[in-house]
Amino acid sequence: MGYRETYAAWKADPEGFWLREAARIDWTVPPRQALDGTRAPIYHWYPGAEMNTCWNAVDRHVEAGHGGRIALIHDSPVTGSISRITYAELRERVARLAGALAARGVGRGDRVVIYMPMVPEAVEAMLACARIGAIHSVVFGGFAAHELAVRIDDARPKCILAGSCGIEPGRIVRYKPLLDAAIAEASHKPDFCVILQRPKEPAELVEGRDHDWRDFVAGAEPVPCLPVAATDPVYILYTSGTTGQPKGVVRPAGGHAVALHWSMENIYGVKPGEVFWAASDVGWVVGHSYIVYAPLIYGCSTVVFEGKPVGTPDAGTYWRVIQDHRVSVLFTAPTAFRAIKREDPEGRLIGRHDISSLRALFLAGERADPDTLAWAEARLGVPVIDHWWQTETGWAIAANPLGLGLVPVPHGSPGVPMPGYEIAVLDPQGRPVPPGHLGAIAIRLPLPPGALSGLWGAEERFRRSYLSSFPGHYETGDAGYLDEEGRVFVMARTDDVINVAGHRLSTGAMEEVLASHPDVAECAVIGARDPLKGQVPVGFLCLNAGCNRPEAEIVRECVALVRERIGPVAAFRDAVVVARLPKTRSGKVLRGTMAKIADGEAWKMPATIDDPAILDEIAAALARIGYPRA
Ligand code: COA
Ligand code: AMP
Repeated sequence: MGYRETYAAWKADPEGFWLREAARIDWTVPPRQALDGTRAPIYHWYPGAEMNTCWNAVDRHVEAGHGGRIALIHDSPVTGSISRITYAELRERVARLAGALAARGVGRGDRVVIYMPMVPEAVEAMLACARIGAIHSVVFGGFAAHELAVRIDDARPKCILAGSCGIEPGRIVRYKPLLDAAIAEASHKPDFCVILQRPKEPAELVEGRDHDWRDFVAGAEPVPCLPVAATDPVYILYTSGTTGQPKGVVRPAGGHAVALHWSMENIYGVKPGEVFWAASDVGWVVGHSYIVYAPLIYGCSTVVFEGKPVGTPDAGTYWRVIQDHRVSVLFTAPTAFRAIKREDPEGRLIGRHDISSLRALFLAGERADPDTLAWAEARLGVPVIDHWWQTETGWAIAANPLGLGLVPVPHGSPGVPMPGYEIAVLDPQGRPVPPGHLGAIAIRLPLPPGALSGLWGAEERFRRSYLSSFPGHYETGDAGYLDEEGRVFVMARTDDVINVAGHRLSTGAMEEVLASHPDVAECAVIGARDPLKGQVPVGFLCLNAGCNRPEAEIVRECVALVRERIGPVAAFRDAVVVARLPKTRSGKVLRGTMAKIADGEAWKMPATIDDPAILDEIAAALARIGYPRA
């Protein structure tokens, strides 16, 4: 069946479609019912069914005779090492770690925070939690102690698994002091921590609280997989919202496994046993879905890459990895390709490697600019497929499904809706707009299996953030349009979220940090266009009356403060002091207009502005720090 028939089959009988797909994974209690809509608009998939995610990702392949197949390939240019772990070895390692956790009292429903670099143990930690029904919450290593503390307080983990350090090009990031500071700041204290000591920078352990990973697992008894309800969370993943309080996206186990399995065959067009590489980080949803769970559930070999597209050691690293491991499908963010293109505009380094195994490149995480798409297509000679999704959905809302036969999609569009998703573009009153007209992009409820079931401990926030603006729909927070052929175009966010190098960040969270500086009376942060990272944050600071400290000094302190509180991943480098902020008469800061000025785009004088002259002051301030950029 091609895309159109498959989509029509889903639309004709959504529950039958997902019940049939459910048969592709293993259950201890198979689902008899697809959807529970009794609490609509909150839905649950596969009520009454039971399964285990780790069984589906690991054990069942061993049981099927594929124990010798490579499950994980750890390729780490930053440590100069490559290692491989078979499915049988993975089962042994995961079962033992799970046994060690269980022996310390970690069980079904307990939370476990994971703060680790891109090493196989990070994947093993996730799977070990899933094995015993514990709920993991991975925190990206580029976040600072405060962000980790906020997540610890929200998830209230029984224990934390961490690496002693991460290795960034040119510097070692010592994770352990960040972990210690986070635990000191958080009100909730974990019972214990398990620290993976990396030879580059072993950490000091806190007596009575911290265990060395190797000792921790050494004497442990392996444990089998514990069946859990399909509706039990397999993980919580925090993502940026409008404020400094991140949203804990809850992923139910059963629908997650079913949807990811479907996506591997039908969207990515791979076969079990092939090598799949998502060049992302386990701290992001792309890492959860396509470094860990989807490739393993589907029986592929997955590449865990600890490096960067450039600088480890050069812009040819991706091609070397594809060649060395015979990668079939690569998935990364457009920013990675912009970085490569900037260093090797002619793509000369591609020619030095045999990348004939590569069948397709998938891009997501941010808008794929047509220049980058065209460059990749011309240099790689394989389909380059943009697809659009978010932490909340866990897998693609729209794509061009390689496994179902590609459909025509112009550059600038991430494709057509996947089965499970009915996309609606709505005006502020919730009425559908005609094709070609911009509006808020919403998805008709219910969301498909694999999408979030809620926010951790925050049902009211879940309803308010996603379900209340457009009754009967999920609000994506993205704006865009559909064309006559039903292809979607995603143009911008409708909230205070920006996208920096494929990383989703909250300008509201940065404003909260800036506002805490003693000399700052008022502030605003916008996302300005950046040729490499897509967007970068720019801060505007209004100082307290009577403050006569040098502006440059205050700006420096503010930049340092964001790095210290949120982390280097925020890439907050530019801020400027202004006398006042442009506002509407009702006091709303005109961030959208400021962003347009920063990007050098045409903008209209907002009718509701209280004093139009302020926008000239903003343009002059931006010019002082080099915006608009070339
Ligand atoms: N642990 C600790 N620090 C980290 C980190 C981690 N896991 N990941 C990134 N950082 C730090 C970086 O060292 C950098 O710090 P610096 O300010 O001291 O230089 C900062 O966070 C910003 O990192 P990054 O966004 O990686 O920017 P960069 O300028 O170092 O590299 C790219 C730019 C484009 C090469 C890089 O962003 C990249 O590889 N992107 C790929 C996209 C991707 O993986 N997206 C995930 C979603 S699919
Ligand atoms: P995250 O939850 O971190 O995956 O970020 C999701 C957001 O990134 C989406 O809501 C979009 O704003 C943006 N995004 C992801 N993929 C795409 C894409 N292919 N095109 C445009 N924007 C995208």
